[in-house]
Amino acid sequence: MEKVTSGFVFLTVKCKTQNLKYGYSIPPQNSHWEMISMGVLKEEGPIPYSKGLEGIIAALSAISAIDGMKGKLVYRGIPIEMLAKYSTYEETAYLLLYGELPTKNDLDDFSAQMRELRYLPPKVEECLKELPPNPHPMDVLKVAVAHAALYDPDRLRCCREGVMRKVLRIIAQIPTMIAYYHRTRIGEDVVPPDPDLNHAANFLYMLHGKKPDEEEARIFDVALILHAEHGLNASTFAAMVTASTLSDINSAIVSAIGALKGPLHGGANERVLKMLDEIGSPDKAEEYVLNALKEKRRVMGFGHRVYKTYDPRARILKQYAEYLSDKYNDRRYIEIGKKIEEVMIRELGKKGIFPNVDFYSGIVYHFLGIPRDLFTPVFAMARSVGWAAHVCEYTANNRIFRPRAYYIGPEYVEYVPIEKRR
Ligand SMILES: CC(C)(COP(=O)(O)OP(=O)(O)OC[C@H]1O[C@@H](n2cnc3c(N)ncnc32)[C@H](O)[C@@H]1OP(=O)(O)O)[C@@H](O)C(=O)NCCC(=O)NCCS
Repeated sequence: MEKVTSGFVFLTVKCKTQNLKYGYSIPPQNSHWEMISMGVLKEEGPIPYSKGLEGIIAALSAISAIDGMKGKLVYRGIPIEMLAKYSTYEETAYLLLYGELPTKNDLDDFSAQMRELRYLPPKVEECLKELPPNPHPMDVLKVAVAHAALYDPDRLRCCREGVMRKVLRIIAQIPTMIAYYHRTRIGEDVVPPDPDLNHAANFLYMLHGKKPDEEEARIFDVALILHAEHGLNASTFAAMVTASTLSDINSAIVSAIGALKGPLHGGANERVLKMLDEIGSPDKAEEYVLNALKEKRRVMGFGHRVYKTYDPRARILKQYAEYLSDKYNDRRYIEIGKKIEEVMIRELGKKGIFPNVDFYSGIVYHFLGIPRDLFTPVFAMARSVGWAAHVCEYTANNRIFRPRAYYIGPEYVEYVPIEKRR
């Protein structure tokens, strides 16, 4: 039994639903009309309240599905494991955006368009060179995406083709923005996109200034596929909220980048490596985890709002983290990681806390030579397609998002002139 107080009425919130920790509904104990006029109740009956919107269905979608109890993820019905094995980021992007796997011709056209759209407007390149010292790379990405909108040749086109062109352009440009920013900040010349390379390989090439070996480009390609889409997570929802006002795609992507920046969402993988460094060696991992739990600190890379078992993406990334650790003959991170996993599952597995996608992705990116502070921008680069797919799907049958809050403030407060306030 919990109480929500209000100056209007005293609301006793007592209908704790079975499955949702925060699922309540306000019983219509006050007069029906009074509750409606307060904005607490709809004509039809009580409005459910769920902190963090947990368990609330906010849209219909055919893009992806997660079975959080069985640890399954499908994009358009296709299991993530099959896409990781057989698909490419371009093909997966097509699947997410258009709803089905492309034919060979469709994929060739789509890939050609993506390659042609990678280049940045000169003004955006200039902007990336004139940043204040040490900005957060996710802030840089927000600025670059917002700036690119000003020079988008399709910015005034609202037809389906115009919107799709804008969508593909921003998905194609984000890797270039990240790589150009990085090259500039380390004092190196920017490396223009290579039209002979796919999305994943081209990014590593632009970042490092040399072509990646095929095996590592493929591992990165798979990492992008695994991060491409994940239902109505916070950043996708942020993009949808912005797009539901009929704003433009770049604004929606800027909103999503802002949401992804936070450590409870995309910022976790960077913190995982920081934690591995802090721990230093596998024999110290158990003590670290037990202390963290005792002090009620979150262990980064664990837990998920939807998965209550092993995240299927983490399973795949763990194999690549193992593989690269052996390839580079450096097993320090993976051994610490595995020990953390063992202790966390032992301690919190019964609560449904298991490794999530961010736990092993950091180790993979580390071996691919991606600087730590670019882990979250790389997440954004992959997820841009999921954001765009949801924006397109939702706005095709749009309704502006406008939830309500239960008012728990005072009913009436007298306005006191400033000279009389104490
Ligand atoms: C992802 C996350 C925000 C999901 O949060 P959530 O669905 O609101 O889960 P809750 O906060 O209700 O957690 C449920 C319980 O597990 C515990 N828990 C959840 N994640 C935990 C973690 N990473 N480390 C330690 N304990 C954790 C909570 O303390 C809570 O315990 P309690 O019931 O004793 O209060 C949360 O698991 C988290 O903060 N993880 C670390 C950050 C991270 O890896 N983010 C990337 C997500 S892909």
